[in-house]
Amino acid sequence: QAATRVGAVAHDLVIVANRLPVDRVTEKNGRAAWRRSPGGLVSAIEPVMRAHDGVWIGWSGGNEARLKPFTVDGLHLVPMAMSETEISEHYEGFSNGTLWPLYHDLIAKPEFHREWWDTYVKVNRRFAEKAADLAADGATVWVHDYQLQLVPQMLRELRPDLRIGFYLHIPFPPTELFQQLPWRRQILEGLLGADLVGFQLPGAAQNFVRLVRQRVGHKTHRDLVYLPDGRTVRAAAFPISIDASGFEELARSEAVTARAAEIREALGNPRKIFLGIDRLDYTKGIYARLRAFGELVSEGALDVDDAVFVQVAVPSRERVEHYRNLRDDIDRLVGRLNGDLGRIGTPAISYMHTSYPREEMAALYRAADIMVVTPYRDGMNLVAKEYVACRIEDDGALVLSEFAGAAEELRQAWLVNPYDMNGMKAALLEAFQAQPKEVTRRMRAMRKQIAQHDVKAWADSFMTELELAEDVQHTKTLR
Ligand code: F6P
Repeated sequence: QAATRVGAVAHDLVIVANRLPVDRVTEKNGRAAWRRSPGGLVSAIEPVMRAHDGVWIGWSGGNEARLKPFTVDGLHLVPMAMSETEISEHYEGFSNGTLWPLYHDLIAKPEFHREWWDTYVKVNRRFAEKAADLAADGATVWVHDYQLQLVPQMLRELRPDLRIGFYLHIPFPPTELFQQLPWRRQILEGLLGADLVGFQLPGAAQNFVRLVRQRVGHKTHRDLVYLPDGRTVRAAAFPISIDASGFEELARSEAVTARAAEIREALGNPRKIFLGIDRLDYTKGIYARLRAFGELVSEGALDVDDAVFVQVAVPSRERVEHYRNLRDDIDRLVGRLNGDLGRIGTPAISYMHTSYPREEMAALYRAADIMVVTPYRDGMNLVAKEYVACRIEDDGALVLSEFAGAAEELRQAWLVNPYDMNGMKAALLEAFQAQPKEVTRRMRAMRKQIAQHDVKAWADSFMTELELAEDVQHTKTLR
């Protein structure tokens, strides 16, 4: 067992994710350093990690061959090296060229390559071996996301003493789509290595259980799968959230308040600001939403003196072809809309291809009257929740796609079908013209939901259910 292995440090909690919760930055003196990534996941998991002497295994994002374990703000981090071939075949290839489009409704066409699969297996095995090495006797291991779906089974084979949880951050597809995958059975069996498999929505958990029954042939009852070896696996929904009070506090700060006013000023104090903030990804529906806005302006329903659309597109997966093409398409569309509709000093679209720190995001959320979130498919969409958390004056309209997981909780948004161009135009206009009382009524209800269901509640409920799942196994073995 790891706990007694000479030279090995054993941990009671091991987090396994494709990425470490830190980014490589260059300091003023030119030296490379690590900085905590702004994401909410690490802040949610951090207290659990500290309480359990946890360690986090993940990729640094680079191709360094050797990186030693290190500690940032008291968090123990273990970097996993990835070769150029592995980055290209595991991360860009199988994860983002096969699974990502397959799990997002085939918005882009998934590619099936046997060598990508082989590298996916190889990288998953390395992560599983590292987790097996670092976990104490009877420890808990929490594996995250679609890049590592084989880890639970590989890890269970190496270390049957562990309690293993898996959480999928993205959608799990309908059975008809999943069946296209040549390695569908291996993925299902990989996930079944966990005691608890968590999804964003109940529908995803049901898709998984149905597939296991149909494709692997195991007995299932409601959210439980019964394995021939006597183990039970539970599949359930745990909708992820954000650090709501952290965002709210930031939004209230003087610096963010002043910056929000500065942003409005810089945009020429238009009556209303529309805002989109997304990773530059074809699932997000950026192109369609800008077109909808453009049509409203060209038809005269909106005027560029009255309304501006601020779109922030965060660079992402830039070596994957679909992403490169999307960038070109959006560049061209923004250029055309501004050329056709803008006036000197008042463009129709204010477009930024960059990423911003949390403070600037909070200022943008506070400056914007209408937040537009229109993905074709999205596991959850945290931007929608962040906007709500930052609207400290209970105002601001949210236009939200029905196909974002967040739509199941944020029912008071202006819900749209992003494939329906006229429907989307009507919703943008309604949100633009809505009475302040109506906007406030809706926002209040959404703020209550987000305050009560934050990322801490999410992490706590997953960990609690994981403990219960293991107890079920334990009682069964004793019987
Ligand atoms: O939503 C899934 C996800 O993998 C997140 O975990 C991550 O923050 C985001 O997409 C960006 O992905 P990548 O790690 O490919 O930059």
